Amino acid sequence: MNASPNRYADGVMNYRQCGNSGIKLPELTLGFWWNYGEGNDYVDCLARMAHAFDNGITCFDLANNYGPPFGAAESCFGRMYAENFKAHRHEMIITTKAGYNMWEGPYGCGSSRKMLITSLNESLQRMQLDYVDIFYSHRYDGFTPIEETMQALIDIVHSGKALYVGLSNYPTDKLLAAVAYLRNQHVNPLIYQGKYNMLVRDVEERHFDVLSNLGIGFTAFSPLAQGILSGKYTDGIPDDSRAARLNPRMKEMLTADTLKKVQRLALIAESRGQTLAQMAVAWILAKQIVTSVIVGSRTIEQLADSIGAVHNSTFTAEQLLEINQILL
Ligand SMILES: NC(=O)c1ccc[n+]([C@@H]2O[C@H](COP(=O)([O-])OP(=O)(O)OC[C@H]3O[C@@H](n4cnc5c(N)ncnc54)[C@H](OP(=O)(O)O)[C@@H]3O)[C@@H](O)[C@H]2O)c1
Repeated sequence: MNASPNRYADGVMNYRQCGNSGIKLPELTLGFWWNYGEGNDYVDCLARMAHAFDNGITCFDLANNYGPPFGAAESCFGRMYAENFKAHRHEMIITTKAGYNMWEGPYGCGSSRKMLITSLNESLQRMQLDYVDIFYSHRYDGFTPIEETMQALIDIVHSGKALYVGLSNYPTDKLLAAVAYLRNQHVNPLIYQGKYNMLVRDVEERHFDVLSNLGIGFTAFSPLAQGILSGKYTDGIPDDSRAARLNPRMKEMLTADTLKKVQRLALIAESRGQTLAQMAVAWILAKQIVTSVIVGSRTIEQLADSIGAVHNSTFTAEQLLEINQILL
């Protein structure tokens, strides 16, 4: 595969400094949660990844349990990487995570040292890599002492299997304790990954000031609320949608109130000359704290659409006010 020679040309992708670190991340990261497992054609997956790379997306977000089944997305990534992207390893930020359900038995879930280190070794094998760029603790699990999880992350960095560490889904007090432990041993947490979109905004209060004060980057997952903010559910649940095929729990989010908000937001997007999906991504990018938005595109058309957001991501004060009033 020949990567586009224009992928780093001006106007293709923007890159933002990640917190106070020396790393810049693309405004969009490609996410691998649902769309790289069974039922996804390898050639389509490769076309999406190539399109992302050709458009300056250098960051690829994985986790041990992405699929389905668990591990399948990492295996798919590994094949794409080994067959097509090996020569570009130094241009890529590749992440993975551990913390949620992965394998049966008492060690296959959670944030213990056993889980994190074993899981990363298995992830590296599936992804055909010697190291990842960012290894995340996927969540605070509610029972493993923060010291145990953080020491495992520190030892992983010292082993060379991850260049940086990140945290995801941590309550604020645990985040502060985790950062203090890591920094005390001279490992700087690079980035925090949290759910953030127009419909789910609790990280604004819980994490944004804390991260800004600590100089840690923020990357947003589920920017379209798993597709709801594309407007595709306005007239019911399409057969090929995530809610119909993969994640029936999404149906709980499809309330009349939410669908009405989505319809009103679509009118603003139209007046801005962009799709609702693009506006939803742009609205996140308009926040200064945000380093990158992780897009979970299922098709190349969706990915191309979302990439368009980086070229129209400023809002007037009136537009932001109007959006806020809709989201109240
Ligand atoms: N740290 C964590 O705990 C965590 C949790 C969740 C996700 N993540 C990461 O964040 C990534 C993104 O999350 P997500 O997949 O929920 O993101 P999302 O962008 O909110 O949802 C992706 C879904 O939205 C639809 N879509 C995407 N782009 C579209 C477009 N331009 N127009 C119309 N529909 C569009 C597709 O739905 P259809 O399939 O219905 O077409 C797609 O499957 C994941 O891949 C993963 O890397 C992290």
